[in-house]
Amino acid sequence: MNAAHKGTNPRKVLVTAGLPYSNGRLHVGHLGGAYIPADIYVRYLRLTGADVRFICGSDDHGVAIMITAEQEGKTPAEVAQHYQKLQAQDFAGMGISFDIYSGTSINPYHAKVSQDFFKAIHEKGYFEKQSSRQFYDEARAAFLPDRYVKGTCGYCGTHEQNSDQCENCGKMLDIDSLKNPKSTVSGEPATIRETVHWFLDLSRFEKEVTEWLEGADVREQTKAYVRGLLGTGLVKRAMTRDITWGIPVPLDDPDAKGKVLYVWFDAPIGYISNTYELEANRGHDVSVAEKMWRLGDDTEIVHFIGEDNTVFHCVIWIAMLTAVGTMKLPKGVIVNHYFNIQFPGKEVEKISKSRGTAIWVGDYLAAGGNPDALRYYLTAIASEKARTVFKPEDLEQRFNSELADSVGNFVNRITSFTIKHCGPNVPVFDKSLVGAVDKAFDGAMNAAFEATTQELERHSFKGALEAVMEFSRQCNRYVDEKAPWTMRKTDMEGTKVTLAYSLRAIHALGIMMLPFIPTAAEKILSAFGRDAATVSWSDAVSFDLIGGPLSQPPILFQKMGVAKA
Ligand code: MF3
Ligand code: ZN
Repeated sequence: MNAAHKGTNPRKVLVTAGLPYSNGRLHVGHLGGAYIPADIYVRYLRLTGADVRFICGSDDHGVAIMITAEQEGKTPAEVAQHYQKLQAQDFAGMGISFDIYSGTSINPYHAKVSQDFFKAIHEKGYFEKQSSRQFYDEARAAFLPDRYVKGTCGYCGTHEQNSDQCENCGKMLDIDSLKNPKSTVSGEPATIRETVHWFLDLSRFEKEVTEWLEGADVREQTKAYVRGLLGTGLVKRAMTRDITWGIPVPLDDPDAKGKVLYVWFDAPIGYISNTYELEANRGHDVSVAEKMWRLGDDTEIVHFIGEDNTVFHCVIWIAMLTAVGTMKLPKGVIVNHYFNIQFPGKEVEKISKSRGTAIWVGDYLAAGGNPDALRYYLTAIASEKARTVFKPEDLEQRFNSELADSVGNFVNRITSFTIKHCGPNVPVFDKSLVGAVDKAFDGAMNAAFEATTQELERHSFKGALEAVMEFSRQCNRYVDEKAPWTMRKTDMEGTKVTLAYSLRAIHALGIMMLPFIPTAAEKILSAFGRDAATVSWSDAVSFDLIGGPLSQPPILFQKMGVAKA
């Protein structure tokens, strides 16, 4: 399929990437899991001339932020603002091109949009108000959410199990099957108290969730996983919580007093409220943003997330949108798996903040790390089908050999040689001198462009990058075979053909690399006097640069320090 020319593409796409909790910095696992793939897709779509919005922001509510606030001696709002700013900096440093990076506690629309959403579901009669027994921390005078209670498995007797599942025997645990429960917040025994909450019975949406899943752009293994969840049956989930930090439950009911919306209820609504804020920033009425999320509008909504967010986006969010009744369902939910990490001479480990195995984006950038290098490596090892392993020394090694030595060298050799011997412009050549090898090379360029486009459309970013890199190797083979360095001495006219074809390939590489490694790709395009902001995707194979300007681009890839053995 050929992408439509910029300016004539009628597609409207709203891309979101999961909202990170604002109680910490970002590490490479976050980037590779959702933000880089989403950014590649967005940059590609913009090049095709589609009308794209790239929406993100921090997820500020929930218990995790409250606990960080307690540890840091700040209010939850202060913690959220502090980390939201640092996250925005890290994303900007990595070239993640959000149209907005807001936060659920700073967005002026978020509370009302979330409350209206809750009320709409309430009015449809989908909430069931129920009293239930919950763990309680007497010392802190607060109810304890699942992850803050540990105890002994009532089935097999294993100690120190989370309150929802035993890691030893695999049984689901509940308030009755967890013995000797204790609060991980205060360390004191947890007591049990009655409390009222509003539950959404997800089993009422099984049909809609199933239909959506089968028709949506969702990777096969994600579908299989969600089908498994649907197969074992959906349950009721409380959509409210007894904590002090969050959006108040908007009901005129004494039982609602002091309760807030469950963080996983208001967080995905952040995608909507952030769209409102974006359109308001652009001077538009909120109805413009509202419409994009409503049934009947043709904006494609695509969510990019990490695997731990699957059930929330592929089941609960779909049920929530369906329950409101007027909302459009997402066209796709693109899920990446986790990365593990392996330091030189060490075992493969989980990326863990507490065990110190995380590589922080802020540290990488502060140390002068090249954003393109990290973008390239994270895409090359993308965990699109299963978990993969991040190896810091591979990042350097692959950048040096695949980008600096191969692409950088080719671009540099061809441009400097042309400028020296046939400059100053891209050489005009005699068409009758074009031979079979040149034609085959041209064919390879078109095939690489088609393959890359197809892979990007399928959200297969690793495959798309491989198609581009395969073409870069063909470029090197082409000039090795044509050897303009020696041909020049005997056949200047034939040399011009080789150089013109090579420069066309360099220009094509520049465009095709824009979504992946924008900084280097912009430098490539600058050699032809082209501005990355105005080029289009199809220019890769259709732009006529013969006879046009040519200059030596700046160094594309500064080699990284060679890794220790
Ligand atoms: N904050 C969640 C996490 O980091 C992700 C929220 S995604 C949203 O896992 F859709 F809910 F916003
Ligand atoms: Zn057990």
